[in-house]
Amino acid sequence: MEFKNKNLTKSQYFYFLRDLFFYNKNNNLFNKGLLIKNNYFENSFMDSFSKYFDYDNFNFPTKRKNLSETDARKILKKLSIVINSEIKDYLGSNLYCTEYDAIITGNQVSTDGSYQPHHDQRGRRVKIFIYVKDSKEDSHPLYYLIGSNRKFRKWSNYQDTRFKNIKEHQMHKFYGKKGDVAFFDTHGLHSHNKYKTGLRCIIKLVIENFSFFNNLNDKSNKGQAYLKKNNAIKIDFI
Ligand SMILES: [Fe+2]
Repeated sequence: MEFKNKNLTKSQYFYFLRDLFFYNKNNNLFNKGLLIKNNYFENSFMDSFSKYFDYDNFNFPTKRKNLSETDARKILKKLSIVINSEIKDYLGSNLYCTEYDAIITGNQVSTDGSYQPHHDQRGRRVKIFIYVKDSKEDSHPLYYLIGSNRKFRKWSNYQDTRFKNIKEHQMHKFYGKKGDVAFFDTHGLHSHNKYKTGLRCIIKLVIENFSFFNNLNDKSNKGQAYLKKNNAIKIDFI
């Protein structure tokens, strides 16, 4: 655990308590922080999302478009087997999809912001990358430091959440093929400098549990405001 000399924020206390109360050792998301399902979606289903990746040029590191709520619900339904087993086992059962976007990484390099090893400052939650097209080895891979999700961290500012000393070769790299899905806990360290210029087209979803131990309660004003701001989808229909 990394306590250093910093004071825990209220949210970080909740994350710490939550980690103490997790017991299931047979869950890939718990053990590694990363779970890959190859060839999960059929090609025709992936093709129905190509409309989100229509750009005049690719002279940027990253661009995103909002996914429609209808499309997000379609995907969540098809992910029900994984959500109802591994994800509920890891996060708890009161789940919401709080982000749903189509993201393309373009042909510009970058070492800023999320293009550094980092965690998302949100405690345990699961991000899902769905590969709409094959991503080749000339594109930016998904980097993940295996097992880093199990390490409790505290931070007092943005720089504390960036880990520039972690080398690229220490991290697991995943180049998804069309229809592959990667699930990872954003409390673990992920990403690295983008020095590749090939395209990567993914749908990104974020799944969060709302409970006492996440400091996000869907009955509280704060929790409801967060859900409304993100147009979150309650996962009670799969
Ligand atoms: Fe991130």
